[in-house]
This record gives sequence, structure tokens and C-alpha cells, in this order.
Amino acid sequence: MERHHIDVMLDEETVDRRIRELGEEISRDYEGKTVYLICILKGSVYFTCELAKRITVPVVMDFMQCSSYGAATKSSGVVKLSKDLDMAITDQDVIIIEDIIDSGRTLSHLKNLLEQRKPASLRICTLLDKPERRVSDVDVDYVGFQIEDKFVVGYGLDYDQQYRNLPYIGVVEFD
Ligand code: IMP
Ligand code: MG
Repeated sequence: MERHHIDVMLDEETVDRRIRELGEEISRDYEGKTVYLICILKGSVYFTCELAKRITVPVVMDFMQCSSYGAATKSSGVVKLSKDLDMAITDQDVIIIEDIIDSGRTLSHLKNLLEQRKPASLRICTLLDKPERRVSDVDVDYVGFQIEDKFVVGYGLDYDQQYRNLPYIGVVEFD
């Protein structure tokens, strides 16, 4: 790894407060329904769990893994599905939970794939959004924070598999 340090971008309290708000919003929008949260491994694990704790309607969680990134900080543009859902989502109200939307390639691919299984509804919720970097157009229903084009870590996001466990969002600054 290159020499670098981490600066705080969004502190723990700020992130937690926003997740609580998103949970309240989702709870209102899905009143009377059961919501299927699809956690995209590995980056969305922390966000999905914290969000699920703040949702008051019944929640079902399932996991999926795909990747468009190699070991470095640049997208390869190739999306690979390495773990599929365990459950069927036909006729269910589904929300895909992402850590961050960058080019949008991962999500456009996933959304198309899941639409084919005929869920009753399909929405997208992301903790972070980097709109400047968008290549594939994708409608995002719930956004935690829009951020500028910086490489960020923490709250599930990694730099070469490290820093996922940081309880805040940090920026990787190369020295
Ligand atoms: P997309 O397909 O380009 O939108 O890429 C989304 C995926 O790239 C995310 O799920 C992350 O795993 C990864 N990614 C994008 N930006 C960052 C970042 O700033 N830090 C860490 N991972 C990132
Ligand atoms: Mg990822």
C-alpha cells in the first residue's frame, strides 16, 4: 500500500443520525408491508445492520455479492456476481442496500438482474453517492449523503480490504 493517512469526512454521530432518519423514512414508506433488505457484500454490511435496527416494519435480510473493483481504488467496469440471494423475491417489496454509488455500473446491473425476478417493488438505498462519477444512469430512492469525488473508507468501505471497521467515513489522503 502507498503511504497514506485517513481524514474524517463524516463523523460517527453524523452518520448514525442520518441512518436513523433513513430508517424512519423507510418505515413510513413501507407501513403495513414487510421489507426485503438486500445487503450487497461486503461493503454494505455495517450500513444494512444499522439501518435495519432503525426500521420499525417487519424486515427480512438477504445477501448478495458482486464486484466491479479490483484491489486498487479504480473501477474495472466489470461486474461479477459471486453470491446470489438465498430467498426468492417474487412479489416482495425489495430494497437494495449499497454502501456507495460511484460509476453506477454495479447497481444498474443488479437492478436489471433483480427486476427479472418480478418483485412487487424494487428500490435502491445507498449510504453514499458520488454523483460526479456516474457512468450508468440509475435511479436512487434513498441517499444518506452526496459526497465529492474522493476515495472514502469506513462504515463498511475498504481500501484494499482494510478500514471497513472504522465507525465513521474517512477520506484516504496519499502522503
Ligand atoms: P460502481 O459500480 O462504480 O458504482 O461501484 C460501486 C462499488 O465500488 C461500491 O460498492 C464500492 O465497493 C466501490 N467503491 C466505489 N467508490 C469507493 C470509495 O470511495 N471507497 C471504497 N470503495 C468504493
Ligand atoms: Mg464494494
